[in-house]
Amino acid sequence: DKVTSVDAMARPLRDIRISVTDRCNFRCRYCMPAEVFDGDYPYLPKPEILGLEEIARLATVFCGLGVEKIRLTGGEPLLRRGLHELIAMLDAIPGERDLAMTTNGTALARKAKKLAQAGLQRVTVSLDALDPEVFSRMNGVGASPERVLDGIDSALDHGLGVKVNSVIQKGVNEDQILPLAEFARDRGVTLRFIEFMDTGNTNGWKLEQIVPYTQMVQTLHRHFPMEAMEPAHVGETARRFRYKDSPDQEVGFISSVSKPFCADCNRIRLSADGKLYTCLFASEGHDIKSAMRRGVSDEELAGIIHQLWSARDDRYSELRSQIGGTQAKPEMSYIGG
Ligand code: GTP
Ligand code: 5AD
Ligand code: SF4
Ligand code: SF4
Repeated sequence: DKVTSVDAMARPLRDIRISVTDRCNFRCRYCMPAEVFDGDYPYLPKPEILGLEEIARLATVFCGLGVEKIRLTGGEPLLRRGLHELIAMLDAIPGERDLAMTTNGTALARKAKKLAQAGLQRVTVSLDALDPEVFSRMNGVGASPERVLDGIDSALDHGLGVKVNSVIQKGVNEDQILPLAEFARDRGVTLRFIEFMDTGNTNGWKLEQIVPYTQMVQTLHRHFPMEAMEPAHVGETARRFRYKDSPDQEVGFISSVSKPFCADCNRIRLSADGKLYTCLFASEGHDIKSAMRRGVSDEELAGIIHQLWSARDDRYSELRSQIGGTQAKPEMSYIGG
């Protein structure tokens, strides 16, 4: 029988995001600015990084605690060797659940087949612009959108569910909102526009740089009339809309800044070095790797997690205006999307 852990604000634990590496082949300015994440940056040393079996073991314990959704993230998860083996192990955990991955898509054309065969159900591909110049500037390494587009097509060809995530920044890629929407409509994939967030300590976030979701909705609605949809499940990150001219096609807005969604947040995060974070903005993680490497049982691991979750009272995005900028926060490349 499953025990569901509930936190201090009565939120159940349903969703785990597992970062498998803190490295990435992109240097998106809002995530890993190249002048900070250079050759001297202290990436996690290999012995500190959880092995694939260790990750699978923890995931199994989490599923026993009521987790219904597993998302692999990074950094860029496809840089992790043997990722398909991890996916196969996760797929083999008894019970029904959602198994997804967030990726920048650059290695998808090459790997989609193997990932799908291993049991991955869906991918969320980050794509901030279709204009080659804008995209190149944003990803910080001069990559062209073509490679990502090939990755998306390859994922679709191999039967993976596909969503596209676009972070919108004022004055940087606002003009890409319509082209991105047209592209997603054309491919029949769900697109989510994300408000630029104050993750980490290095991306120079300023409130003036966000485009509030209501404004993005207006922009889009003028060209493609939409209507609001009900949330698909409790704790959903995106506000969903459907297009009036093609009601099966949806588009979402992740409004973490202008309209936070902490009230139902059921997500926990596991860093590549085995720390649990009860919030994307939590100043500290809770080391679970040490206990595991000390040889504790699965029951004891479940007990540690249960205790951690029971005490959780995080709601950073709701408190942002009061505490924003006053505490150290984990980098998104370390803790995952
Ligand atoms: P689906 O499973 O497809 O619904 O995706 P999801 O809602 O789990 O969202 P996804 O992993 O695609 O995340 C989209 C983006 O939303 C992330 O990359 C983050 O930028 C943001 N995000 C996800 N979860 C949280 C959260 O708990 N808090 C905040 N502030 N932002 C989040
Ligand atoms: N604000 C909003 N979204 C971000 N992402 C990374 N950093 C930020 C930020 N500062 C997004 C990526 C990707 C997902 C993992 O999170 O673009 O889609
Ligand atoms: Fe890499 Fe994703 Fe961060 Fe961009 S947002 S640097 S692709 S981890
Ligand atoms: Fe959850 Fe923290 Fe994001 Fe709020 S800010 S939705 S508590 S992860």
